[in-house]
Amino acid sequence: MAEFRIDARGHVEVWTIDGEARRNAISRAMLKELGEHVARVSSGRQVRAVVLTGAGDKAFCAGADLKERSTMSEPEVRAFLEGLRETFRKLETSDCVFIAAINGAALGGGTELSLACDLRVAAPGAELGLTEVKLGIIPGGGGTQRLSRLIGPGHAKELILTGRRVGAAEALSLGLVQRVAPEGKLLEVATELAETIAGNAPIAVAAAKHAIEEGYSLELPKALKLELEKYELTLKTEDRLEGLKAFAEKRPPKFQGK
Ligand code: COA
Repeated sequence: MAEFRIDARGHVEVWTIDGEARRNAISRAMLKELGEHVARVSSGRQVRAVVLTGAGDKAFCAGADLKERSTMSEPEVRAFLEGLRETFRKLETSDCVFIAAINGAALGGGTELSLACDLRVAAPGAELGLTEVKLGIIPGGGGTQRLSRLIGPGHAKELILTGRRVGAAEALSLGLVQRVAPEGKLLEVATELAETIAGNAPIAVAAAKHAIEEGYSLELPKALKLELEKYELTLKTEDRLEGLKAFAEKRPPKFQGK
């Protein structure tokens, strides 16, 4: 059975984790399929932005599948974690832009999945939390590193050490999510955001994403040099010329990703 429902809309795809009965938890099968979809969209320029959401209104993703976990040996848990970390990194380093549309609870690996995405939009009733210490473990899908980079080490420590869950409004004020959609409008807001991004020059969008991602942990002089290298990638593109032409002709540009 497919773990995701895929809805293709031109340059945008909506991926829905289709596991409502287990609150869209990350099983081995789900992780494998996620990796396959990430590889598919990352290998071409057709899909420019992906909205990732969960089935139902209870959960975006309840983290690792704890029922499956209880049947796993220690080496199996380790292998799962490696796969999780690799897949999240592939999302983060893809040319494609990922937007998490957080439709309910995003706990543990669910919050980590959203942190590996480029942007997060929350429903008003969404809840996020890195609750791992309550289960005797720590966030192992990049949560300690990505959360502290996103909202700062002080806020990250407060959330991770207490295992406290935050609602949409607090998540917005912390910068943990970038937007809160009005009630019932989550997919509309997230898809609109994805379409705006997908309408921009794809090579430029990817270069900007990588410049921010790779440059964030560098010292400023090195990061600025990196920005120049990424700018250089856009200089040679047909899309740059199309952008100038469209401006002169007072029409919207038609970017080809070339
Ligand atoms: N893995 C596997 N199954 C899960 C799950 C998970 N992470 N989270 C929930 N489920 C299952 C429940 O076991 C239950 O299954 P059952 O019907 O066979 O008993 C079903 O999903 C519904 O769970 P329930 O708690 O009744 O749903 P809810 O809508 O009231 O609450 C959550 C949803 C996500 C808030 C709640 O289930 C929860 O807190 N889950 C644990 C999250 C967690 O600790 N994740 C790991 C962090 S490291």
